[in-house]
Amino acid sequence: MPLPKSILVVGSGGREHAIVKSLIASPTRPRVICAPGNAGIASEVCCFPDVAADNISGLVELAAREGTGFVVVGPEVPLSLGLVDALAARGIPAYGPKAGGARLEASKIHTKEILLKYNIPTAGAATFDNADDAAAYLLSHPAPIVIKADGLAAGKGVVVAQTTAEAETAARALLALNASPGAKSRILIEACLTGEETSILVIVSGRDYYILPTSQDHKRIGDGDTGPNTGGMGAYSPAEVVTPALLARIDREIVRPSVNAIASEGIDFRGTLFIGIMLTPDGPQVLEYNTRFGDPETQVVLPRLDTDFLALLWAAATGNLAEVARDVRVRPESAICVVVASKGYPGKFPKNIPITLPGTFPPQTTVIHAGTARDAEGRLVTAGGRVLGVTALAPTLAEAAQRAYAVCDEIECDTKYHRRDIGARQLNRK
Ligand code: AMP
Ligand code: GLY
Repeated sequence: MPLPKSILVVGSGGREHAIVKSLIASPTRPRVICAPGNAGIASEVCCFPDVAADNISGLVELAAREGTGFVVVGPEVPLSLGLVDALAARGIPAYGPKAGGARLEASKIHTKEILLKYNIPTAGAATFDNADDAAAYLLSHPAPIVIKADGLAAGKGVVVAQTTAEAETAARALLALNASPGAKSRILIEACLTGEETSILVIVSGRDYYILPTSQDHKRIGDGDTGPNTGGMGAYSPAEVVTPALLARIDREIVRPSVNAIASEGIDFRGTLFIGIMLTPDGPQVLEYNTRFGDPETQVVLPRLDTDFLALLWAAATGNLAEVARDVRVRPESAICVVVASKGYPGKFPKNIPITLPGTFPPQTTVIHAGTARDAEGRLVTAGGRVLGVTALAPTLAEAAQRAYAVCDEIECDTKYHRRDIGARQLNRK
């Protein structure tokens, strides 16, 4: 099938800005639009800020009205609300799973059942809908132990409890979190794994798949991986801790079995399967599935792809992935993304704080926008917790870090906060 000429990207974060950049770089020069977008995306393509990412009927109408031939969905919420199903009903192809596939992210219990059913390595777990039963279980399963809300919780649904008291408090809080009238909320209590984490992003099309370059996220707000969890404060690629031999093992023990399990469950998955993996002393184990690209992993993975990204996503959506994936080349350079956040994030933070970006940049260094907007005077201002992602590509990770941090230091914004140690784990290993 010929490549689509008109594409709608759904979302408003750094991930979507990176996706837009890669799509407009396609040699076929497609027309790209974005909803709702952000200030950075709007400087590259036409955005529709009034059509929110969870407005399913609005997005379908927009796609139809604009003559869109292909929709690329960034975030998990529209996927789980059935955006891709609704688009399919209108004959509009999309990259991203239908609601049935998105449940692999939207329900951690559903995923755990699949992992255990197909013997894919993961922490042992039990499910509860009653706080007293959970408390009784915790007495015979000592801390550290992990409590997870079943549903989507924007990164706030997992507590790694260091004491039984903390675990019980978390179990009660997470059981209350998703409690909706009529539906019982459930939690998962699972064994605590130790090791380094890695994000394996896989482009999936039925039983075919392509593993994207490895990366590592930095989830905690503070240097040295301290403080509360966030959406991700920075990333780098490749994650050298995943050696070629280890990647082959991950493919054999986790990726191939996961893709087959999903297909065997009758799910026609065409999109990104993002597998969060803990590299434990007993081997790699699955922490979670996400059904979309990672943020900020995407900002470091896409610059390393030396390929027509549009052709790759289109092939996954239309069933031609095996052939197109054979031609994908990966650049040998290292990529880094340092997230510049609003001071206070992931707690409360002010918005509408002016931002001044530097006038010049080191080579292969870019500012990706996440939570940015224009105020009434047209000035660039903060509009979210994660504001920007400074991304650099260089022959070594050390050089990439130097370039990205030089830009971070020059960004002017009164509420600027970023970690100083993105990539340090890998740099210190050398
Ligand atoms: P998840 O959303 O399931 O990936 O969990 C978010 C974060 O919680 C992960 O990135 C890990 O840092 C941590 N986590 C999740 N499950 C476990 C586990 N079984 N053992 C230790 N840490 C975990
Ligand atoms: N960076 C983690 C995520 O996208 O969920």
